[in-house]
Amino acid sequence: MELTLESVPMGDTGLSVSEIAFGTWRFGRETDAGSTEIDRETAHDLLETYEAAGGRFLDTADIYGDGDSERWLGEWLEERDREDFVVASKIYWPTAEGDPNRKGLNRKHLRRQLDTILDRLGTDYLDVLYIHRWDDATPAREFLRTLDGFVDDGRVHYLGASTLRPNAWKVARANEVARRAGWEPFTVTQPRYNLVDREIEGEYLEFCREQGLGVVPWSPLAQGFLTGKYERGAGVPSESTAAESEGWADRYLTDENFDALDVVRAVASEAGATPAQVALAYQTHHPDLTAPIVGARTTDQLAENLRAATVSLSDDQFDRLETAKAGPFDALL
Ligand SMILES: NC(=O)c1ccc[n+]([C@@H]2O[C@H](COP(=O)([O-])OP(=O)(O)OC[C@H]3O[C@@H](n4cnc5c(N)ncnc54)[C@H](OP(=O)(O)O)[C@@H]3O)[C@@H](O)[C@H]2O)c1
Repeated sequence: MELTLESVPMGDTGLSVSEIAFGTWRFGRETDAGSTEIDRETAHDLLETYEAAGGRFLDTADIYGDGDSERWLGEWLEERDREDFVVASKIYWPTAEGDPNRKGLNRKHLRRQLDTILDRLGTDYLDVLYIHRWDDATPAREFLRTLDGFVDDGRVHYLGASTLRPNAWKVARANEVARRAGWEPFTVTQPRYNLVDREIEGEYLEFCREQGLGVVPWSPLAQGFLTGKYERGAGVPSESTAAESEGWADRYLTDENFDALDVVRAVASEAGATPAQVALAYQTHHPDLTAPIVGARTTDQLAENLRAATVSLSDDQFDRLETAKAGPFDALL
């Protein structure tokens, strides 16, 4: 695949990352219908497609595929120079049922999980370690100090906070505590963001901009809705895993979202691109965002998505996409 993704700075850090990241959440994932969404062979094909396009920014988590995402990624990296890639993983969700110390951000769970992650990936370090969610049951000082230790001993390069939309103030306060203590602060965030899930617009994005944090959005295609494969009033196509998830259709297949999708389709037709490419190009053009983490179930989907890097949007097209659906604060203005 002839396309070389460009590098962009990750916020105010010195790290450069690919302008589109590839997410491995669906590797080894059991769907609600009981099948495996992406098996090992397809996972490796997808990684090769991403690599062939020049992609170097890989996203995983300790719980994805019950560890298979990291294992399969580690096997794939073994055949390559690990130094060529920026690898991010995450810790928070329970890793054993019924054991309060096997979940969250307590020191015991963080230390055990980092050991497990590095072992599965076959690497000495993570480029980015995210807290997958905020943990109100653990004092922030405890996990900040533990995370700082990981940076100190070289096993983690940068710290990130994922999905903290309602909690931007907690990260602001935590970073202040970290700075006063001389500990490493969070320098990158990973929120959900796409043209129909806009809850981070306003305060959250302003906070990230003001603090110089990298912003790496997940589900940039609204789990496939923004590819245009769903039609108003037509139910869900068989080629859709998202639609198997409880609540997904009620949340996404709304008139308001289809109105936003009409704008995406119109811009796509002007730009000679697909709706998926336009939805991703909106993010690569967005001044507050670092790199969307795209997902794909097949190599054809991924190849289509990565070509978003070749799509150029005019200011007018960007503005129409930006206003295609109201953000959380629009009604207050
Ligand atoms: N931090 C967090 O809490 C969090 C949460 C979620 C995700 N993430 C990260 O973000 C990554 C991406 O999330 P996501 O998978 O939801 O992203 P997404 O890009 O919004 O959705 C990907 C899904 O959309 C469909 N799709 C993608 N491209 C398509 C195309 N060109 N044509 C038709 N259908 C297409 C596929 O599903 P179907 O074919 O089955 O419809 C695919 O699996 C994850 O892998 C993970 O790394 C992080």
